[in-house]
Amino acid sequence: MEKMKRMKGLRIALLAAAVMLAVELVSGNFVVEENSLAVMSPESLKGTYRSAIGNFGVPKYGGTLSGVVIYPTVNMKGCGKFPHDHFRSNSGERPKFALIDRGDCYFATKVWNAQQAGAAAVLVVDNRDEDLITMNSPEEDPVASKYLPNISIPSALIIKKFGDKLKTALSNKELVAIKLDWREAMPHPDERVEYEFWTNSNDECGPKCDDQVEFVRNFKGVAQILERGGYTQFTPHYITWFCPQAFIESKQCKAQCINNGRYCAPDPELDFTRGYDGKQVVTENLRQLCVFKVANESLPRQPWKWWDYVTDFQIRCRMKDNRYGPECAEEVMKSLSIDVDAVRKCIGDPNADADNEILKHQQDVQVGEGVRGDVTILPTLVINQRQYRGKLDKTAVLKAICAGYLETTDPPICLSDTIETNECADNNGGCWERGSITACKDTFRGRVCECPLVHGVQFEGDGYTHCEAHGLGRCKVQNGGCWEETRLGVYHSACSDYHHHGCHCPLGFEGNASKVEGGCVDIDECARKLKCQCPDCKCTNTWGSYECECANDLLYFHEHDTCINRKSGQSKAAGWVVSLIVLAGLSVLGLGSYVVYKYRLRTYMDSEIRAIMAQYMPLDSQGEVQNHSHNGVREP
Ligand SMILES: *[C@@H]1O[C@H](CO)[C@@H](O)[C@H](O)[C@H]1NC(C)=O
Ligand SMILES: *[C@@H]1O[C@H](CO)[C@@H](O)[C@H](O)[C@H]1NC(C)=O
Ligand SMILES: *[C@@H]1O[C@H](CO)[C@@H](O)[C@H](O)[C@H]1NC(C)=O
Repeated sequence: MEKMKRMKGLRIALLAAAVMLAVELVSGNFVVEENSLAVMSPESLKGTYRSAIGNFGVPKYGGTLSGVVIYPTVNMKGCGKFPHDHFRSNSGERPKFALIDRGDCYFATKVWNAQQAGAAAVLVVDNRDEDLITMNSPEEDPVASKYLPNISIPSALIIKKFGDKLKTALSNKELVAIKLDWREAMPHPDERVEYEFWTNSNDECGPKCDDQVEFVRNFKGVAQILERGGYTQFTPHYITWFCPQAFIESKQCKAQCINNGRYCAPDPELDFTRGYDGKQVVTENLRQLCVFKVANESLPRQPWKWWDYVTDFQIRCRMKDNRYGPECAEEVMKSLSIDVDAVRKCIGDPNADADNEILKHQQDVQVGEGVRGDVTILPTLVINQRQYRGKLDKTAVLKAICAGYLETTDPPICLSDTIETNECADNNGGCWERGSITACKDTFRGRVCECPLVHGVQFEGDGYTHCEAHGLGRCKVQNGGCWEETRLGVYHSACSDYHHHGCHCPLGFEGNASKVEGGCVDIDECARKLKCQCPDCKCTNTWGSYECECANDLLYFHEHDTCINRKSGQSKAAGWVVSLIVLAGLSVLGLGSYVVYKYRLRTYMDSEIRAIMAQYMPLDSQGEVQNHSHNGVREP
């Protein structure tokens, strides 16, 4: 028993030595990714500063965020919970950034505590004089792993000197306003984004492996759209260690490595006596690389098949189900029409004491080059040669990829709903809205206020305070934003296609006509003495109009707002108007009669003449009248 324990201890030590030696050879070049931080006020601190993007939460790649800085008076290190809503901004206020000191607990814990109290971002002040460092996420911490995926705000580390200046300004009761800027955090040299995902086929390493599996599954759709559209060039990578020469003959290296110690992966359970060995993991890694290579070189090229293979393999060939291995892998390949023979050929013989081109390349590119650091931790995402910082989450990663394009060359997916930042959820992002119609659009660059196109009707305006429908059909969309009302079956509207824009109160109404500004109100023609002012007339206001009853059995003549006598057509008030009308009527009648008379006379005469003439000669209209003809020769 004792001996076994010692043996196991020795094994682990050997394993650790092997891994450490391998790590040592490639480590020491971890690049800090930065975003810019601009102080807007106070005047004395105005300027741009450097800050380091935290490796958790969601950096707003491609965007900016402005806010005011709050330094808590207690719990300055943010290791305990803050009072409820301590950093939450009220509506209309700028977002609040929590300024928190480094030390005593994980960076992620501080950020999580501040987020829960409503902070929009966290600035962590370093507690020693040094250059910027990357705030990493805690590894293998069961408590942290619970809240880590829920951190959704960005965080940045600032150097101590700058943090002290901010604190001084705050203690002098000055307003410290800051703009965090991630627009240049991702280079965007051209219209295609190159990105690498460093992963592992091992699915039994706890939360970390689960995260990778989950990410690949969630991101697959987006990755394939981007790749098919030619917007990205994706390359998968797998970290591969080698066994130091002195240990090649050891049991450990034999269990963990292929090609005579050249390519190794750690044992999934860190126990060589049970379950799967590192050897099997490195072989599957190689297979996945080969699947990519074969699919990338097939005709037509289909590099996106890697995503299908990997997700299907994760579902169908799990270690848990004892299905991890070549048989299951080849089943998956067959169902995806991947050339199994080509993949086998690419894998080659794992027992051969020879290099494998594919894995050798993986070891070479693992070492950092240019601005990209070494890849030593999994999973690692490298976008346009920059190491991605933030959580491995579909939206966050897509946002970072989208930030890799120049602003006008974004693929459509970057501007679609899938990448929404939910900035429209809060106060409609400060954009114009009317009922269900809104000018707020979530994009990965943050929200934009842009007048919408609704049912073919284009709204125009600044998008912030004002959008208005123009042209035909505008009244069909929320009545063009104009007032409308129905009372007792009578409908009135302030929108009409007669006007190309704007709202206009119908006759009998007045007001701003637009729906939100009070709409139209009935004009009380009677009270205002506008109509029906004849002596003894009875005026009754109605909605949109009025009624007028004349005295003495007279008839109300609406168009002329006057009373007329039913019998003589004489009105008391404006008899002459009616006389004129009657006179005019008579004249028209007279003229008409004359015209009719003349016409009738002519037709009468015509027919008389025709009748007389018809007796002597054939008329076309009457056909041949044989009796009066002489061999076709007409008599006069
Ligand atoms: C994280 O979010 C999930 C889903 O929104 C929720 O179920 C879970 O309780 C959250 N965890 C913590 C620690 O708040
Ligand atoms: C995939 O194919 C493209 C185009 O043929 C090529 O540029 C790229 O290097 C290939 N990637 C790999 C990993 O073979
Ligand atoms: C709308 O009309 C009301 C009164 O009818 C007036 O007080 C208000 O200022 C008007 N609003 C606009 C924007 O004209």
